[in-house]
Amino acid sequence: MGKTKKVRVGMVGYKFMGKAHSHALRDVPFYFDTEVVPVLQAIAGRDEPGVKAAAEKMGWASYETDWRRLIEREDIDVIDIVTPNNTHAEIAIAAAEAGKHVICEKPLALTLEDSKRMLTAAEKSGIIHMVCHNYRFAPAVQFAKKLVEEGRLGKIFHFRATFLQDWLMDPNFPLIWRLRKEVSGSGTHGDLGAHSIDLARFLVGEFSEVVGMMETFVKQRPLGTEMDINLRSRAVSSEMGTVDVDDASAFLARFENGALGVFEVSRFCRGNRAGNRFEINGEKGSIRWDMENMNNLQVYFADDEPGLQGFRTINCTEVEHPFAGAYWPPAHIIGYEHTFINLMVEMMNGIAKGRSPQPNFEDGVRNQAVLEAVEKSVQTGTWIKIADVLNK
Ligand SMILES: NC(=O)c1ccc[n+]([C@@H]2O[C@H](COP(=O)([O-])OP(=O)(O)OC[C@H]3O[C@@H](n4cnc5c(N)ncnc54)[C@H](O)[C@@H]3O)[C@@H](O)[C@H]2O)c1
Repeated sequence: MGKTKKVRVGMVGYKFMGKAHSHALRDVPFYFDTEVVPVLQAIAGRDEPGVKAAAEKMGWASYETDWRRLIEREDIDVIDIVTPNNTHAEIAIAAAEAGKHVICEKPLALTLEDSKRMLTAAEKSGIIHMVCHNYRFAPAVQFAKKLVEEGRLGKIFHFRATFLQDWLMDPNFPLIWRLRKEVSGSGTHGDLGAHSIDLARFLVGEFSEVVGMMETFVKQRPLGTEMDINLRSRAVSSEMGTVDVDDASAFLARFENGALGVFEVSRFCRGNRAGNRFEINGEKGSIRWDMENMNNLQVYFADDEPGLQGFRTINCTEVEHPFAGAYWPPAHIIGYEHTFINLMVEMMNGIAKGRSPQPNFEDGVRNQAVLEAVEKSVQTGTWIKIADVLNK
């Protein structure tokens, strides 16, 4: 422990992701021997009783009621942004200009243009930056990446992903921030689709072109309170507001390496709570993963003996599986929160070594370009090349 360096984190926001990040930051030194260890220095929120209570509950040493104050403080080295999407750019750019490292929730920004400004600011000041696509940090997904990189699937032909939920199906579910374009940018597309796009970029490579469709099934909703962590909310008014984002989004994609992609995200899929799944098919084998069973990876290898061929299940809890060895003995499974701990380890290692962690703001920009290309395709009814959107 003598050689560890402490970095003092200031977090903006303290609800769903605030809880996930606070827990992860606390647990990094519990499970991992990183050279750099996070300290929960201060959190910021606009409501004083709320932020004070959150600081006490989640173990933060102090609190502020304006995020700008967090950025001014000399005892803060890293800003962690866990607020709605419309706030990311302003906070991240201010933090970068003040020389603070930045961890930012996904999608990186409201628009591609904003995400590019964030990347430019981060690169200009030379800070370490990261965007929180936590699902790639499940040991099973990291192991899938290793199998792909080792060529065990051979040439990749297909990637198909879904992220299906059902919490929005009640037409009386209120108009929370996730359903308002000016705050969230898009609906399921940026919220869930951004995760599937990140998994695709991580496992298969860059997108080359996309064509998509989107739908808003319930176009008017009562005004209401924000949602709690159990995805429940209630209307507080009989006044109605317009939903100006998608309830469902689907698109086809071509990758630069010739693979084909099929993507579907929706909050209208009865019985699916967090159906975050993907399948990869290559010339020598296939891989399947399902977040609801996140420790397991299903693999099929075509060179298995005839008669014994079939998908087999690997429980990715052994020391051979990235990050897994830091936790428990084999088959003593881990959960959702561990994806965030692993992500924070990547951030701390980036700070320690002075190298950019992944996924970083450049990944955030490339992700945002795919999101925007799909939206453009929906507007024009045509295939859209990612390069045309990225370089516009
Ligand atoms: N990685 C993931 O799996 C994942 C999951 C959920 C949400 N997210 C992302 O995390 C971010 C936050 O989502 P959430 O679900 O935690 O939202 P939330 O509504 O649960 O919490 C948002 C927090 O931000 C605060 N806030 C809002 N505007 C603010 C402002 N101007 N200044 C200071 N605080 C402000 C709210 O008071 C609240 O504490 C979003 O970008 C979302 O897309 C990521």
